[in-house]
Amino acid sequence: MGLIQPTIPPLPETLSFAGKSALVTGANSGLGLASCFHLVQRHISTLILAVRTRKSGESTRSALLADPVVRALPTKPTILIYELDLGRPSSVAEFATKIRADIPTLNILLLNAGIGTMAWQTTPETNTEQMFQINYLSNAILSVCLLPLLRHSGETFGSASHLPIVGSRAQGLHTYAKYPIPDTTSIFAFLNDRAHYRGMQRYADSKVLVSMWLRALAARVDASVVTVNNVCPGMVSTNIDGKEAWWLRQIVRFIQAIRGRSPEVGARTLIYAVSAGSQTHGEMLIDYNVWENKFVNTAQGRSMAKRLWAETLAAAEEIASGAVREANLED
Ligand SMILES: NC(=O)c1ccc[n+]([C@@H]2O[C@H](COP(=O)([O-])OP(=O)(O)OC[C@H]3O[C@@H](n4cnc5c(N)ncnc54)[C@H](OP(=O)(O)O)[C@@H]3O)[C@@H](O)[C@H]2O)c1
Repeated sequence: MGLIQPTIPPLPETLSFAGKSALVTGANSGLGLASCFHLVQRHISTLILAVRTRKSGESTRSALLADPVVRALPTKPTILIYELDLGRPSSVAEFATKIRADIPTLNILLLNAGIGTMAWQTTPETNTEQMFQINYLSNAILSVCLLPLLRHSGETFGSASHLPIVGSRAQGLHTYAKYPIPDTTSIFAFLNDRAHYRGMQRYADSKVLVSMWLRALAARVDASVVTVNNVCPGMVSTNIDGKEAWWLRQIVRFIQAIRGRSPEVGARTLIYAVSAGSQTHGEMLIDYNVWENKFVNTAQGRSMAKRLWAETLAAAEEIASGAVREANLED
């Protein structure tokens, strides 16, 4: 990747989400918030903010409704707030149940929330490492639990629903080729063992898992009903490093100042993903183009993806019994 990132053209003037509903995770800051602005400015009818606290959701809703473009719209969007903590499997299960009960149709599920950190942290509920849990596992489980709703909406509207997970081209820095997970070892057990933790490289490793999962999911889902894809927004000036040491944040801020996109510009790529055609199904998108993670297509990558699929479905069943069968994902 060059020092200067390519220009991302503005979204088409004609792009409209009128009559549609969207759910955005991590909606209160950075790329998630900027995506919400794009959606409400482009006439989304119902927007669901998935946030950690109701309070942060309420200030986001106020900011969205105060936007001059939104204030000028003849019909204001309905903005709903739901609490979700991706670091707690029980919260993921509860959230999915509530959404299934309350929301009749969902055209867009933008799984954007994620973290990047150096520090080893585990979720108290299951002792899973946090970047693995938040960036990968909770997103994968949500995609299983909400797939029936997305399918139903795609069929009802006669046009594909969209399910992007926000990934990263930083996945190219993954450690799996250098430190392969033995075929006989559980991927989950390996990643949740602190002895195998290599700080920030876990961010790249978690995003490779996202690529593998979406590719496998896409193979089992009709693209004309639900289009599943993976999108990288490029380097964007957000607060993703907010919990890091002050000196590291200074370095990141310096690099962001030189080459970072604004959240508004970075989020254009997410909005492209939620409106893209079936050619993006199962693919990773970078700057509006399909990008190939070569490792995922190696024999090692394919074997790992197969095991990842099985372990992920088992984890989904553990927290949401019956979800796999309901999503029609049983082999
Ligand atoms: N910025 C970049 O250069 C870049 C590049 C490539 C990919 N990405 C990806 O873009 C996505 C958005 O990141 P960002 O840059 O916009 O960073 P950000 O401003 O830090 O936003 C991250 C969002 O995720 C939410 N989140 C974090 N932990 C959560 C949890 N346990 N449960 C629920 N929500 C949680 C945060 O909520 P709180 O406000 O409550 O913490 C926040 O809204 C991430 O997936 C990231 O990996 C970013």
